[in-house]
Amino acid sequence: MRPVVIAANWKMHTTPADAGELAATIAARTRVDAPVTRVICPPYVCLAAVGAALAGTAVAVGAQNVHHELTGAYTGEISAPMLAGLASWVIVGHSERRRDAGETDELVGRKLRRAVEAGLRPIVCVGEQLVERETGQAEAVVRGQIHGILTAFGDATFGDAAADLDESGAVIAYEPVWAIGTGRNATGADAATMAGVIRAAIAATGLVDLAAAIPVLYGGSVTAGNIGEFLAEPAIDGALVGGASLKPDEMAGIVARAGLTAAARSGGAG
Ligand code: PGA
Repeated sequence: MRPVVIAANWKMHTTPADAGELAATIAARTRVDAPVTRVICPPYVCLAAVGAALAGTAVAVGAQNVHHELTGAYTGEISAPMLAGLASWVIVGHSERRRDAGETDELVGRKLRRAVEAGLRPIVCVGEQLVERETGQAEAVVRGQIHGILTAFGDATFGDAAADLDESGAVIAYEPVWAIGTGRNATGADAATMAGVIRAAIAATGLVDLAAAIPVLYGGSVTAGNIGEFLAEPAIDGALVGGASLKPDEMAGIVARAGLTAAARSGGAG
């Protein structure tokens, strides 16, 4: 059974002075009596404060990015080994980094490799642009992203790398770019279709077990008001939440709804 995951992407918001208090508030407001995996991904400089604030809670800490090399002359960058003790999850391939830092599928695959090597649970982001959806290319684009990322991850051979990825607890986030931060979310049905495309693309690389086992999250203008539409889809296992993840009321509503799904899927409420 796949876990239900709600991950908060705080993007470039909060400071070391205020992040801990916000994280603690969210942790307290999102306690549910069901197996929902909660993750908060603050800016790098807030990881320590958020980690301290979340100590003793079940909420995990994630980074928003990681470099594809281990050390070297990369001014301003952070590598996977540097995150040891600060984060247990990491987002790779977010569309804002693809847009602003020119990240390609090949680079994202290498970041994924570093994350897995370091024992970080990756949240791998994929998703199409608006023009790609409008011209009927969404499925092909996302299929290509998955193939490109996994090819770079495994250096085109999915030997041991496949087993590593299986064991990494990796999660995919389907985030249509036109839905991020726009207030215009995808439909639950479209997100479910794309989750199927993602699983088929993973299976097509030979990773058949991983395709069935990997959680697929939806991201893009998720709120407490619309999370139910996504979690009603059996193919969707949670959400990557941006803007709403800075609001404790919204997070409380989102995780409460996720708790119903987690209970139902684990055989509780049916
Ligand atoms: P949003 O961002 O919820 O603000 O649309 C989602 C994301 O970028 O992960």
